[in-house]
Amino acid sequence: TEIEWDAESVTKGSHDHYMRKEIHEQSNALRECLRDRFSTGDSVSLDAIEDGYRPESVHLVACGTSYHAALYGAKLLRKRGIQAQAHLASEYALSPPPVRDGALVVGVTQSGETADTLSALRTATAEGARTLALTNVVDSTAARECDDALYIRSGPEISVAATKTFASQLVTLVLFALQSSGQTSDETERLVSALTELPEHVQRLLETTAAPTTARRFADSSGYFFIGRGVQYPVALEGALKMKEITYEHAEGFAAGELKHGPLALVTEDTPVFVSVVGDDETARKTVANAKEVKARGAPLVAVTDGVSSIDRFADEVLTIPRTNRTLAPILVNVQYQLLAYHTADHLGRDIDKPRNLAKSVTVE
Ligand code: G6P
Repeated sequence: TEIEWDAESVTKGSHDHYMRKEIHEQSNALRECLRDRFSTGDSVSLDAIEDGYRPESVHLVACGTSYHAALYGAKLLRKRGIQAQAHLASEYALSPPPVRDGALVVGVTQSGETADTLSALRTATAEGARTLALTNVVDSTAARECDDALYIRSGPEISVAATKTFASQLVTLVLFALQSSGQTSDETERLVSALTELPEHVQRLLETTAAPTTARRFADSSGYFFIGRGVQYPVALEGALKMKEITYEHAEGFAAGELKHGPLALVTEDTPVFVSVVGDDETARKTVANAKEVKARGAPLVAVTDGVSSIDRFADEVLTIPRTNRTLAPILVNVQYQLLAYHTADHLGRDIDKPRNLAKSVTVE
């Protein structure tokens, strides 16, 4: 059973901004997200979806931050053998994918009220797909209109910039990928055990982060770039989105391998590049090589890393994350990015909780 909360009763407590409070609520939000979602052993049991349900293909539709969660979810599902693709909700209806029997369309939407996402879900329903709302708000329009609703259980988020709800979306997507692929393997076991440790890792990171110092050092830069490869790519996009939303400074996220195909022309000594590198496998080593290219062009390099690869030896600054399963590491990397955006915006005196021109929930197409 899911409990409804009353957004009006939420206060900032001792925090200067809701955003900061919500960043710090993440470890509890993740605990809540994981509660009672494992049955015996390592199998995931989500009451929104019947045990044994195996979608043949999954299309995730979403906007903004939720779209970055959808990109991550699609990568995970594909890794587990399920055909999956993320779509920008506002583009979905213009060229909808064929939804044959067995296709599931998932609307990833914190509020459950975003017009673009609702419209994409309605298109999917009209074409005969099964639909699932992955949302934070019980009884929201998406939850009511979809065949099923899977709740991320973050509690109310007041700040316009999504923070804790993004983390909860990623974890819920991990659970969803585990359940709907039905595979058990050593990797599944490792992932499940890492999931249970994740709230503590987030807490430790929040207590030890050097992000405020890094943010101040680079707060007067002319632009910011974020790069990542594989599961780190969606959080590079999200890191840049958070930065531009609340600092009003130019920021872009790129797939690490794509930098050399154009964006490298924008890199100067006045544009710090943030790169996330986890572990020391081939993916990590390729990202390290991309980071070296940036450094050779004179850009300050900030590495967000678990300290396993060689990146900390030549990065100008290092933001450390606790060691965890590689699939879950983006959640920790993203907490550093949230803090970086928050402290940069704070330094610049921006209206953090209500950035200009933006709304928490956009109900027009
Ligand atoms: C708005 C908000 C974004 C959010 C997007 C999708 O643009 O400003 O922060 O990511 O809507 O919202 P949803 O509620 O569908 O996740």
